[in-house]
Amino acid sequence: MRLRVTSLPGDGIGPEVIRQAIRVLEAVAGSFGHELELTEREIGGAALTAFGDPLPPTTIASCLASQAVLLGAVGSPAFDRNPRELRPEAGLLRLRQELGAFANLRPVVYYPALRAISPLREEVVRGTDILVVRELLGGLYFGQPRSIEGAMGARHAVNTMRYSEQEIERIALVAFELARSRRKRLLSVDKANVLECSRLWREVVTRMSADYPDVHLSHQYVDSAAMMLVLKPAEFDVVLTENMFGDILSDQAAGVIGSLGLMASASIGGPVGLYEPVHGSAPDIAGQGVANPLGAILSVALMLRHTYQLAKEAECVEAAVVAALEAGLRTRDIAKAGERTVKTEEAGTWIVELVRATAKTKDRAIS
Ligand code: IPM
Ligand code: MG
Repeated sequence: MRLRVTSLPGDGIGPEVIRQAIRVLEAVAGSFGHELELTEREIGGAALTAFGDPLPPTTIASCLASQAVLLGAVGSPAFDRNPRELRPEAGLLRLRQELGAFANLRPVVYYPALRAISPLREEVVRGTDILVVRELLGGLYFGQPRSIEGAMGARHAVNTMRYSEQEIERIALVAFELARSRRKRLLSVDKANVLECSRLWREVVTRMSADYPDVHLSHQYVDSAAMMLVLKPAEFDVVLTENMFGDILSDQAAGVIGSLGLMASASIGGPVGLYEPVHGSAPDIAGQGVANPLGAILSVALMLRHTYQLAKEAECVEAAVVAALEAGLRTRDIAKAGERTVKTEEAGTWIVELVRATAKTKDRAIS
């Protein structure tokens, strides 16, 4: 298969983790006989510096001509004082829109090898395997009107939460289908006791559940869900929620397993899938070569699965990550005091070698 991918390393640790993710993608392509066609473009602060635009037309064109986009991170303190449209984050939000990527999938998996880094007791966090399905193109992030107006000292700010039935339906459909492929439990998170958007959300999701009698649907208010996520994380399966709630809950879920560095994401639904680690640009450690590339590498696994339907290849990458963690692979963010840590590059090499070795054994098993 020919894999046409645009890579957008972006800012901070983005380029460091994307370099390793691409090495892994190349290893998968080489081992499984796929052809990789890779184009690199700018986004975020890197694009602002080069073009004065956080999402230049050349980047959009390349992404739309690919099948998948692999993104590092956007964000840099250098642009903190820029107006909203000229901040690195604006590039990412526009990219999600341009790609029509309305469904953001964020798996939250507890790795027994990393029990020491979860702040929760082992018996509480053991078995945690959650898929957050976050609506990505609606709600407060994009609702109009939005503004800050008025004279200094008497200004007021407006954001609008807005959802149409059709927007709710299309994301709920993704969540129901994914729940069906997993443990068949879907939790829809809202704030229906206060917000109209949430009341409509709950109504639409409930109506759709008639088509999924095999999926157990429940509803929970977001405040209560936030608490339960900490108290009983292992009881969650698929969590469906709107944009802002999903942003917050997915970071919280990452905290439950102990590191944002392991979190991968897929943003799908449009013609081109967008894959990125959930961690940000981490300017405090950028350039030191110590960032954890596993979130980016696991995002490659999601790309293989969701854009290319290459389940075997995706599992090979995921298995390599598990095996590496079990063999003691630790970057700084996931190490206990006194444990030996590896740098970003070495972590990448570790996964590349495991991918090649697993692919070979699989080949032998088949032939
Ligand atoms: C995320 C990030 C982004 C978001 C920012 C960088 C715009 O926090 O992907 O979760 O809020 O969606
Ligand atoms: Mg976030």
